[in-house]
Amino acid sequence: MTAIDLSIVPMPAAKLRAYLRGFADWYAEALGEVGYGAGLDEACGGADALHDRVAALIPGLDADGMPAGSTVFDILVAGEPAPVGATWCGPADFGFGPILYIHDLRVFAPFRRKGYAREALATIRALSKARGHVKGVGLSVLARNTVARDLYLANGFVPISQVLFQPS
Ligand SMILES: CC(C)(COP(=O)(O)OP(=O)(O)OC[C@H]1O[C@@H](n2cnc3c(N)ncnc32)[C@H](O)[C@@H]1OP(=O)(O)O)[C@@H](O)C(=O)NCCC(=O)NCCS
Repeated sequence: MTAIDLSIVPMPAAKLRAYLRGFADWYAEALGEVGYGAGLDEACGGADALHDRVAALIPGLDADGMPAGSTVFDILVAGEPAPVGATWCGPADFGFGPILYIHDLRVFAPFRRKGYAREALATIRALSKARGHVKGVGLSVLARNTVARDLYLANGFVPISQVLFQPS
């Protein structure tokens, strides 16, 4: 197997809005499918309200167009004609020290199952190590996203908490 020459570079500002909108769409849809199907949508006041809530989680944009305090990266692979995916990372602290938190990691459909997400995780880990004070890399994943969960568990991530939900 040949080595993958992968890099992450800050996404050009002109693409950020579309990326963040796409992220909010995807996350709201994924949340709506969790556990109770439409139940979460309903508990949150409907799919539109759920989408608005998710969009509101995205921090305001800095002067450079990036979400405040964090960076959205294009994922580039030598030999591929276009970015193969995107990742959004920034600092966080859940009480066990500063970490680099992955808000989002996605590989676009035509480029999946080529090891690019695995390689992107290794690149993000190297980035975290380069920031000396950072203790490691963290992320959250929806329980139903078994593909992503398997990817993370196979690459050294260990679950530390689980969010449970019961609609009222
Ligand atoms: C999850 C995702 C990032 C994986 O990207 P990818 O580049 O296809 O993953 P890789 O090729 O690096 O796969 C690495 C390993 O993950 C697991 N994996 C990835 N896709 C899988 C699938 N469709 N089914 C089962 N296992 C899978 C396998 O263990 C795989 O290793 P293998 O190919 O040697 O079996 C991609 O499917 C994606 O972008 N999904 C939509 C967005 C998303 O859910 N992001 C995660 C948010 S937390």
